[in-house]
This record gives sequence, C-alpha cells and structure tokens, in this order.
Amino acid sequence: MSKGIYIKTFGCQMNVYDSQRMADVLKPMGYAATEAVDGAELILVNTCHIREKAAEKLFSELGRYRQIKAANAQAGRLTLIAVTGCVAQAEGEEILRRAPYVDIVVGPQSYHRLPEMVTRLTRGERTSQIDLDFAPEAKFDQLPANGSNVPAAFLTIQEGCDKFCTFCVVPYTRGGEYSRPFDAILAEAHTLAAGGAREITLLGQNVNAYHGTRDYGTAGLGDLIRAVAEIPGIERIRYTTSHPIDMSDDLIAAHADVPELMPFLHLPVQSGSDTMLQRMNRHHTIDLYRSIVEKLKRARSDLRLSTDFIVGFPGETDREFDDTLAFARDIGFIQTYSFKYSARPGTPAAILPGQISETVKSERLAALQQVLEANQHEFNEACIGRTFPVLFDRQGKFSGQLIGRSPYMQPVHAEVPAQAFGDIVDVRIVSAHTVSLGGEIVAHLPSRADQYSTPRRARA
Ligand code: 5AD
Ligand code: SF4
Repeated sequence: MSKGIYIKTFGCQMNVYDSQRMADVLKPMGYAATEAVDGAELILVNTCHIREKAAEKLFSELGRYRQIKAANAQAGRLTLIAVTGCVAQAEGEEILRRAPYVDIVVGPQSYHRLPEMVTRLTRGERTSQIDLDFAPEAKFDQLPANGSNVPAAFLTIQEGCDKFCTFCVVPYTRGGEYSRPFDAILAEAHTLAAGGAREITLLGQNVNAYHGTRDYGTAGLGDLIRAVAEIPGIERIRYTTSHPIDMSDDLIAAHADVPELMPFLHLPVQSGSDTMLQRMNRHHTIDLYRSIVEKLKRARSDLRLSTDFIVGFPGETDREFDDTLAFARDIGFIQTYSFKYSARPGTPAAILPGQISETVKSERLAALQQVLEANQHEFNEACIGRTFPVLFDRQGKFSGQLIGRSPYMQPVHAEVPAQAFGDIVDVRIVSAHTVSLGGEIVAHLPSRADQYSTPRRARA
C-alpha cells in the first residue's frame, strides 16, 4: 500500500520544481502525494527565506503539523515532519531548537538524500536527521527522471547566484552560481515533453547567467532555448528569473528567432532610481535597463514585461521613490511583484543606516501598487477582442470551465470541452478582470502541431 506524502510549498517556482522532484525521489519507497495532511505518513514543508514573513509562516505551519503528529502517535501511527528549502539551509539548527518534533531538515542541495533519512527514521532511529550540504552537482546527478506530467512544466537549469544584491539572502542560502550540463537539461526536457508538457519554463535564480557545459565548450541560455524549441511537442518556452546585466545579445536574438519563446519576460529592476540601484549593488543603471527593453522590443515588438520592485530599502528618499513611481508608469509593466524591504540577517543592507519605518514602507507600497495595478488593468482591458492561444492546464470554478494561460501569463477562463485539457486553444477574449481574463473558444483543433508550429519559423 502506498504511503501518503503531503507537501506544502512556499516561495518561488524553483521551490515548486524542487517539491515535485522530492516527490519523485521518494516514489520508489512507496510514497505518493496526498492532499490529506491528517492521513499523511510524511509531511514536508518546502520553505522560502527571501522575506521575513515567509519564515514566520513556517513556524505557524509547523505548530499545526505538531498536533497532527501527536494525534497520529496516540493512534499508533508514525508521522514524519520534514523541513526543506532555504529556511532549512539558513536556520536548520534553529528549526530543531524551536520545533524539536521536526524529524528531518534538508537544504535545497541535499534532497536526493531524503530516502536514506526517511529510511533511518522509519527503522526506529530517534535522532533528527539534518543535511545542509552545499554542492548542487551531486543532487542533480542522483535524482531519478523527472516524473512530472503536466501541460506546463518547470525545469531548473541553474541554481544560486554570485551577484550579491545587498538586500538578498539567495547567495547565502543557495550558494554560488551553478549551471547544469546542457545535455542533462535536454534529456529532462524530452522526458517532460513525452509526459505531455506543451510548455516548459526554464528556471534559475539567475537563469540568464546560464553557462552549461556541452561536448564542445559551453552553451548560453539562447543556445538552450533554441535546442528545447526543437523538441517535438514543446510549443512554448519561458525562462525566469533574469538579471538585466545577463541579457546578452544572443539571448535577445532568441526572442526574434524562436517563435516558441513567449513574448513575455520577467525582468526584475527593483528600483527606478540609479542611486538606489547602486546601494542595492545591482550592477546596472536605469538607462541600461531601458536600452535592454528597447532591444527586446526591436527583437519582438509584441513583447511585454513584468518586474519586481522593493520599496523602503534603507535610505530611500522621497525623491528616489518618486523616480521609481515615474519609471513604473513609463515602462508600463503588465504585471509586477512589489515588496516592502525586509531586512535579512547576514545581508549587507540589514545593517545600513536609514532603515525605513513600517508606516512609510506601507504608504510607498500602496502608492506604487496603485500605479502598477493601473498598468495591468489597462493592458488586460486592451486584450478584449484579441484572440490568444491559451494552454489549458487547470479546472475552472464552474463545471465545463477550464483555466489556462495566455502568452502573457494572464489566467484565462473559458467554457471548453474537458478533452481540451492540456491543449493550446485559440480563445477570443471577451472580458477583463483584475488579474484574469474571460474568453470564448474560437477553434479547438485537436492537432496542435499543425495549428501552431507550421511553418516552423513563422510567427502568428
Ligand atoms: N526584502 C524585500 N524583497 C526582497 N526580494 C529579495 N530580497 C528581498 C528583501 N530582503 C524580492 C526582490 C526579488 C524577489 C524575488 O524578492 O524583488 O526580485
Ligand atoms: Fe538575489 Fe540579486 Fe542574486 Fe537576484 S540577482 S538572486 S536579487 S542576489
């Protein structure tokens, strides 16, 4: 009989990918994913450390699991609790101190060791297992084939970061940059396509810094995108998250040459002020960012951008914040993630003078979000009447309804025959809501390959 594993994932898409891979690694031991936390034999919390709130959420979540574990123990059932991901890496010992009922703590580079740790505990070893090793090579070499069979799949190609933005914990929790070998990634992309993936999102904390080894020399992200686009069945490619200084000309050219590459790019800027960017150690200016946007639009005129902003970084003046507001209005980002600065222990910005009060941070966030929401709303409204290819990959709220993604990542809901799940369908947009769109099917041709890939290099 299979054993249940309940996985709770916090944070970014890389964590979603890691959670899936942890399920893959435990599958040969008889573990199957379950939605029912009470009956699970293993509860796994995959954590995020990027902002303070995320770590606090972990402890409140763990309190709940502790009660489930105790109730199961009274009924004679063993429940293991595992904490994985970036909080585990950064605060492993602290987790065991604050929550001694946690059985396993593993960092993001060690989850291939989960089977061994679980085995020890189920054999009766009492001590908590902790592994915070830091070498990503070992992990990727030892993982089984990617078992995901979803229409829109994630594929991690790169981990870690050498940029050291002064606010960010990633270089400390995920370590230095590591790019997976080119062929290993292609093999995984083939497996995903065979499992039904129509879309692949290539993931990395600094995905466009990718420089993977191949038989001869190294390959950049542009090379990788071109190779993935050749895989039969793969009709959409995305990549995230990028740093402006790694937007090479070759990568920008891929936006012109590869029709499978979606016309939507997440390119974090963090601030609209050069002095702030300098204090953040971002290695780029606003002018450089603007010139990249121009080049991208020359390569693909329908390309639109999303970004990240941080407000209330130490020392942020009203003037610097106004520059951010003006920049946000000007570029017209169609989606944005904006955050209040959160001091992360061990990062240089945490001890900078001029920490901003919560009140000011909240005011600035509200002002910025107003601008950003207006941009998003304007773009969504302008989509009414357009026809988009939509990849349907979720059930809708109502029966007969499916939800998919437009090329611009907007969720689109429409009445679609159930067999269209996993297909790319032409949908005319008829309504716009705050984040999502409503649409009507124009045509559902079962053979997607004929519909969207021929002629191969012609763009609709
Ligand atoms: N405080 C607030 N936001 C942060 N981010 C990263 N570190 C912090 C921090 N200390 C944001 C950045 C990044 C996104 C993933 O999270 O905008 O691009
Ligand atoms: Fe963090 Fe900056 Fe690296 Fe992005 S580029 S992961 S924000 S240090």
